[in-house]
Amino acid sequence: MALAGCADFRTRYPGPDILFVATPEQVGVEMLRLASVTSQDVVFDLGSGDGRLVIAAAREFGARGIGVEIDAPLVQTSREAAQTAGVANWTTFLWQDLFVTDLHSATVVAIYLRDDVNLKLRPKLLSELTPGSRLVSHDFGMGDWTADRVQRVQGPTRLHTLYFWVIPGRAEGVWQVRLGASEARLTLTQRYQTLSGTLRANGREEGLTDARMAGERITFAAGGQTFTGRVTADAIEEGTVRGSLAPPAPWSARRVQ
Ligand SMILES: C[S@@+](CC[C@H](N)C(=O)[O-])C[C@H]1O[C@@H](n2cnc3c(N)ncnc32)[C@H](O)[C@@H]1O
Repeated sequence: MALAGCADFRTRYPGPDILFVATPEQVGVEMLRLASVTSQDVVFDLGSGDGRLVIAAAREFGARGIGVEIDAPLVQTSREAAQTAGVANWTTFLWQDLFVTDLHSATVVAIYLRDDVNLKLRPKLLSELTPGSRLVSHDFGMGDWTADRVQRVQGPTRLHTLYFWVIPGRAEGVWQVRLGASEARLTLTQRYQTLSGTLRANGREEGLTDARMAGERITFAAGGQTFTGRVTADAIEEGTVRGSLAPPAPWSARRVQ
């Protein structure tokens, strides 16, 4: 963000939500590994401090890195460090409040904030990030949004905890299912990546078990069969149903509510 906006920016936003504490370099690399960062990724560090995670994403993994930092001197330090590391062309450092940053282009978000700041940020992450994008947090969880993976990493002075999530697609609603020649009705409720609901076919209603989203992929079991597929805004595509009594078969669904 242009420094020219400084006065207005400070009026609207008085200071950082949390002060600068750096993630040890090796722990930062483990965060990026946990998120399986590749050269295809656009990695945002929200509250990027001295820029070390963003620089590591570019230098060690070939990713594009975007740092968002509210402290202007740290933004300057980050830009200089990126020059020194030879990754200035792969990195951008925004002097910005992370709560106003547009996250739609991120494929990976890294954070080292605090429990309460994570909770404040959670709705923005869930609404702006594309399903399948990854989120990794140093030391702090996301309240009742359980992590998909938790990893402990030994740093130079202490043990660090890394939390990892895949942004779940939105499957909640009522779906009309086509399964071979027959039709069924799938009703889903969703809490983050966890689904529950029922499948109604031939006048019988089965409760779903093991129902969840992994990015845009849906999985659930009903009536002794396991369903997998890919959820888009109003359809479930690439569906396969597997059971012990018949060979795998295709299924699909369209959203009706
Ligand atoms: C704990 S440090 C983490 C730094 C870096 N991500 C790391 O892991 O090494 C948190 C950083 O967030 C910045 N910060 C706090 N509130 C912010 C906000 N609302 N917008 C942007 N940056 C913020 C602080 O200035 C600080 O540099």
